[in-house]
Amino acid sequence: MAALGTNALLGLPVGTTLDRHLLQRQNAFKGATGGLSQLLRDIALAGKIVNREVNRAGLIDITGAAGSGNIQGEQQQKLDVVANIRFIRALRNGGEVCAITSEEDDEMVQTGNTSGKYVVAIDPLDGSSNIDVNVSIGTIFSIYRRVSPVGTLPTTADFLQGGRQQIAAGYILYGSSTILVYTTGQGVNAFTYDNSLGEFILSQTQINTPDDGGIFSCNEGYFNDYPPHIKTYIETCKSRRLMGRYIGSLVADFHRNLIKGGIYLYPPTSAAPKGKLRLLYECFPIALIVEQAGGMATNGEEAILDIVPRELHQRSVFYAGSPRMIKSVMP
Ligand code: AHG
Ligand code: MN
Ligand code: MN
Repeated sequence: MAALGTNALLGLPVGTTLDRHLLQRQNAFKGATGGLSQLLRDIALAGKIVNREVNRAGLIDITGAAGSGNIQGEQQQKLDVVANIRFIRALRNGGEVCAITSEEDDEMVQTGNTSGKYVVAIDPLDGSSNIDVNVSIGTIFSIYRRVSPVGTLPTTADFLQGGRQQIAAGYILYGSSTILVYTTGQGVNAFTYDNSLGEFILSQTQINTPDDGGIFSCNEGYFNDYPPHIKTYIETCKSRRLMGRYIGSLVADFHRNLIKGGIYLYPPTSAAPKGKLRLLYECFPIALIVEQAGGMATNGEEAILDIVPRELHQRSVFYAGSPRMIKSVMP
């Protein structure tokens, strides 16, 4: 992992605010209009608001089941709904985005900004089963430049371009501290939220994930469902005395492994034969981050980013992490 210090590409030191970082990036990119920077600022703003909601969740009775389900038939938590509203509102008000695909909405959401050049796919609150028990949760996002003409109504084709077409992606982890990690395809930078300043501050520059790792992360409750080669791999991890770590929030499990080195596995199960995680707003953004950090992400057959989805809420088998470990789960 890159040592704390000066950003090799941009000359920005640890301690720089996200706003300044975005501005410098924008100035370094010839022809940039500032739209993407503004979009990322809008996401950061909504992230600060959700961070506030997450921090006081137990106090104002917004945790617990809302009594409604989302399109995947899962119970929706109140904070999922709150986070969805916050992000959609921030992106709508920001004006850069013409449509949003959210885990919490069956259909694509039109923002009304037909002049917006971008679309965003988002998991507003990831790891929602952990909300009520004070365990880390997150937000995951992915950004595309629309393919439909600017000025017209956006279409689902804007979202179904394939993982390689993402122009930016990232996540916010509401953990022991809140951290925003993002990439625009020029490496991965992490910004820790300073509550007292209300700012995201550059804390890790040009993150590189270790080539090999000592952690495997999967839900072992489904072990009997896993394909034989995955069972064998997990047995090998155990015989080598690797650490088993599984929080049940993709963002938190992935972030730990990104920094320390490890593998995250969500193989096919009898309940989710095509995998559980959603391509657009879970697998693609995490895959872009991990590749940018020198790691790999695969569905076991091809690189996640090479998949071109057919549906907005399409699921995938997902393995991501340190490259040497990922190579071991390829058949
Ligand atoms: P979400 O809360 O957005 O629906 O996502 C939950 C996902 C992911 O965060 C986590 O890694 C995985 O589901 C956990 O699934 P299991 O409980 O099946 O292990
Ligand atoms: Mn999720
Ligand atoms: Mn979610």
